[in-house]
Amino acid sequence: MSEETKKELERLMLKYRAALKTLETQISILIQDFEQKNNYNPVEHVKSRIKKLESAENKLISRNYEVTIKNIEKHVHDMVGVRIVCAFLSDVYKIIEMIENSETIEVYAKKDYISHPKESGYSSYHLLVYVPVYLLDGKVMIEAEIQIRTLAMDFWASLDHKIRYKFAGAVPKEVKDNMYKCAIDINDLDHKMLILNDRMQVYKEDQENEEHS
Ligand code: GTP
Ligand code: MG
Repeated sequence: MSEETKKELERLMLKYRAALKTLETQISILIQDFEQKNNYNPVEHVKSRIKKLESAENKLISRNYEVTIKNIEKHVHDMVGVRIVCAFLSDVYKIIEMIENSETIEVYAKKDYISHPKESGYSSYHLLVYVPVYLLDGKVMIEAEIQIRTLAMDFWASLDHKIRYKFAGAVPKEVKDNMYKCAIDINDLDHKMLILNDRMQVYKEDQENEEHS
């Protein structure tokens, strides 16, 4: 790698780190504001990462692009990634709404794998966004991917990830079929837990009303 290329890569990574910081901060502010107003935290945990250079290169290679810095910028849309995990499905939609309404984060595409799970059974909601980064010579918009899902979806995705890694892509049909069945069970569980949580809420409100009457 030439000195010039090295410098260019460092500059790109600096922009990604800055975008991730802005995104983390903004998301944290939105969650705190929500918690203040509604007296509960809709989020279980937030994870963020910058994609490893090696993974970005592999992605370019698998899509038949030449491995260049320009191509990382142009074709790898999840160099900056944040995952927000909620307990309940209803909270997932609240988070999506908050981010869509944010003036800092600009949503340019949505992938609803909750209404339309992937063939594997993968379920999650993805927002593809631009995040502003202010540098010495002005503002640049950096792409990022925000994944929003329930704990149950996250549980499924993490096992799926391990399986894919273990079988290096060639997952046996039996394992795939069983994972698909698990995805259906998890979807069912998410809906049951949502109904239970809603019932509990109504029960709590009734109790409070009785206490005040
Ligand atoms: P990628 O090359 O995987 O990024 O695909 P894409 O650019 O077409 O976007 P897609 O929305 O399909 O996937 C984006 C991200 O969602 C992936 O990087 C994973 O983190 C996650 N994802 C998508 N499909 C699956 C899946 O079947 N299993 C798991 N565990 N994660 C998935
Ligand atoms: Mg990806």
